[in-house]
Order: sequence, then C-alpha cells, then structure tokens
Amino acid sequence: MTPVNKAGKLSSDASEKGDLRMPAKVDMDKIVSLCKRRGLIFPSSEIYGGLASCWDYGPMGVELKRNVRDAWWKAIVHERDDVVGLDTSIMMHPGVWAASGHIDSFTDPLVECKSCHLRWRATEIESKGCPKCGGELTEPRMFNLMFKTSMGPVEEEASTIYLRPETAQGIFVNFDNVITTSRRKLPLGIAQIGKSFRNEITPGNFVFRTREFEHMELEYFVKPGTDEEWLDYWVKERFDWYVKLGIRKENLRLRQHGKDELAHYARDCYDIEYLFPMGWSELEGIANRGDFDLIQHAKYSGKELGYYDAEAGERYVPYVIEPSAGVDRSVLAFLIDAYDEEEVEGEKRTLLHLHHYLAPIKVAVLPLSRNEKLTPLAKEVFNKLCPNFVTDYDDSQSIGRRYRRQDEIGTPFCVTIDFESLEDKQVTIRERDSLAQIRVPIEELGKNLEAKLKGEAFDASPLWATREK
Ligand code: GAP
Repeated sequence: MTPVNKAGKLSSDASEKGDLRMPAKVDMDKIVSLCKRRGLIFPSSEIYGGLASCWDYGPMGVELKRNVRDAWWKAIVHERDDVVGLDTSIMMHPGVWAASGHIDSFTDPLVECKSCHLRWRATEIESKGCPKCGGELTEPRMFNLMFKTSMGPVEEEASTIYLRPETAQGIFVNFDNVITTSRRKLPLGIAQIGKSFRNEITPGNFVFRTREFEHMELEYFVKPGTDEEWLDYWVKERFDWYVKLGIRKENLRLRQHGKDELAHYARDCYDIEYLFPMGWSELEGIANRGDFDLIQHAKYSGKELGYYDAEAGERYVPYVIEPSAGVDRSVLAFLIDAYDEEEVEGEKRTLLHLHHYLAPIKVAVLPLSRNEKLTPLAKEVFNKLCPNFVTDYDDSQSIGRRYRRQDEIGTPFCVTIDFESLEDKQVTIRERDSLAQIRVPIEELGKNLEAKLKGEAFDASPLWATREK
C-alpha cells in the first residue's frame, strides 16, 4: 500500500543530531518543581489548597502546550491532503453515549476500604487489604468514568448529560456531514483536538492521569480489508512523530494489546509507551475500531452512515483507524525527555533540550545590564524580533542568572546586547545546548535566527565563536 501522503518532516530533527543528553532518569518531583518554578504548570486553585489532580498551565506552559497541539495539527492535518479538521461540542446528546457503549462499558472495577474509605482500581491492587491502611476492602463494583451533569434549570432524569470522555464520538456523529460537504473520497481522516473528562479512580503522576485533559484524536476512515495495513502505517507515523520532535527512541516502545485488554470497540490496538519515571506507561493508543461506531450510531439514530465508493461501485460502512494521544501526557513526556542537569564552571546547570518547535520562547533578548545606554538598542532589537518569533525581554539580575532561567525553560537562543553593540551594531547569539556564542550584525539577526530555528547548524568555528563562561 502506498500512503496517500507522507506526513511532513519537522525541521531540526533531534534524532539526526549528536545527542548531548544523558538518558532520561529524572524523578517526577524534579519535573513538578521545575514546572512550578518556571511558570510551566501550577496546581489548580492553589490559593484554596488545590484540587486533587487538576493543574493549570502558566505563561510558559501555555506556549509549550500550544506548540505540541500545533505540531500535531501540522503533521496530521496541514501537511496531508487526506485529513480534515473538526471542532465539536463537549456536551452531546445522551444517545451518543448509549450508542458508543460508554454508558454500559466505560467502567473500571472499584474497591473501597471499609476503614479509611479510600477507593482503588481493583486491577491495581496486589495485596488483599487496603494499600494505605491495610483495612478490609469491599467486593469490586463497576464504576462509570463519565462525569454526569444536568442541562437546563430543572434537575430531572431527562436532562442528564455527560461531559465527553473522548473527542472521537463528535467525529463519528459528523461523519456524514463531513463526507457530503467536503466531497472527499476514502481513505479520509477527521481530526480533532479538545478537552475530555474522565472521573478516574486513581489519577496521579502529575499531568499523566487527570480527570480533565486534552485529547488529540484522528479517526481515519478506510475501506474494510485495508484496515490492517493502515493500522501498521499509523503506528509507524505516530511513533516517528515523537522521535522527530526530540524524544529518544530508546525511551519509546510499542506494545500490542492482548485480546483480553482490548476496549469494547477495538479489534486490535497498539500502545506507544514511554519510559516515564514510574516505568513504561501508555503515551498514545492506536486502535482499529472496525465499523463498530458507525454501525452503532446508525442503529441508535436511525440515520444511515455508510459510504458510496464510486470507483468500486459499492456501498459499505468504513472501518476506522484511530491514533489517540493526550496533549498533557505528551507535554509531560517531552519535558521529561528534555530535562538535563550538567556542571558548567563548577556550577549546576539545569536545562531543557526541547526541540526548537516546542520551546515556549524561541529567543530571549538580554541587555548586558540595565544601563540606560543599552536599553534603547535592546528594546529596538526586541521590537524587531517579536513579530516573527516568540521573544522574551529580560533585564533583571545578572546575565548569568538570566541565561540559567532561559535554559530551564528550554529557550534555544539568547541574544545579548553589550556596550560594543552600540559601536559596531552587532550582538551575540548564545546557543542553549553547546553554550557556543557567535557575533552577528543586528541587520542579519532575524534571518540568522530563522535559519537556526529551522535547523541550520550553529557554526561555532573557533575563529569567531566563544563559549559562555
Ligand atoms: N478514543 C480513544 C481513547 O480515548 P485512550 O487510550 O483511553 O483512548 C488515549 O486515550 C490517550 O489519551 C492516552 O494514550 C493518553 O495519552 C490520553 N489520556 C487518556 N486518559 C487520560 C487521563 N485521564 N489523563 C491524561 N491523559 C489521558
């Protein structure tokens, strides 16, 4: 099978460069603390003592998260001619969840401790008693993971609705709308990014498992019989996406689901697993959902949901391959994999080797000091750069401290303006990973940075480059 279009390559492929990093062996506390310290992720409602497993993305986190979403959308929608996008509502007709099987089957077995009343997923309990206090546990009962709410002012049964636990169903119920209005042929993918909600029994490990999270889902509709090949194709595409964005191959692996663990809708499924600090865990799932969803929605809604294949002269219900990833879980994996500590001139340096595309700030403009002679030129440089790059301006504290702050959020380039700059109209660019510095004319700064952000090598030839002291 020849894929319709190969997903585009993101520039500056970290896997092709020499990798300066140590293998990811960082504990979660370090990541949580860096995220708090540098405005990436804060505990939600912190001034009220927080809300369990809910997190807020700060000024740096919101940029990082946007970049992860954009990288996914670019690879899945913009760089292909066989996928279109969609944005459906979080609240949907309750019939959707009856048809999809979520009301009956989206459950986890739950046990409760009779002494401390903590609840546990029965499948995660290895001992006989409560893992916290050793107390006796109740028999397992099935617990539905969907959040219920009521629509309208009167709380009655008829108005009960659910917050969506996956974005996928918004795609299935719009299949006919998209096919008829876009006039596309199969294979066709419909992609969506948006919030999902699950009343997880055991959330935790920072943003790895939360009750509110963001999904990036693609439903790729294919002719039955070609589904297995497309499953293989998408498993490879999705694995490669993480590698292109800087995750080291040795920290990723594939795991096929056993027959007994397949979701109620799946014929086959692979997990891309990442070596998180708590061990190998699911980063993304790629499932073959067959025709389960379209058949179910046709049955429950009474509307026909099929496809007329003009070339083959036949009508059929397409099969669906679904790569389904979490934005927050991807953010976490990118952070963990990028995290590094090293010693520079006897001092510890913490840094994030984030892929340029993902880095929250691309360039930091740093006048050597707050001297009134330097400020106008530094502001001029900032104003020139910020329409084209996400740029930070920082003139507080020593230059060394400012470099370290930028290292900790993964800023690839710092531009320093010093007293010589006033004379020769040149500035210093300092590169995050190698600490190499080069001097370039302000006139050429934008072009220079653009090329380097796209992956051009940082030419640190000893004749004209220095290393940060
Ligand atoms: N539509 C299929 C589906 O939702 P899933 O394996 O339940 O499949 C897909 O979820 C991805 O969504 C997971 O691999 C993970 O990245 C993310 N995810 C699922 N539940 C999550 C949660 N409670 N918190 C954070 N991310 C979650």
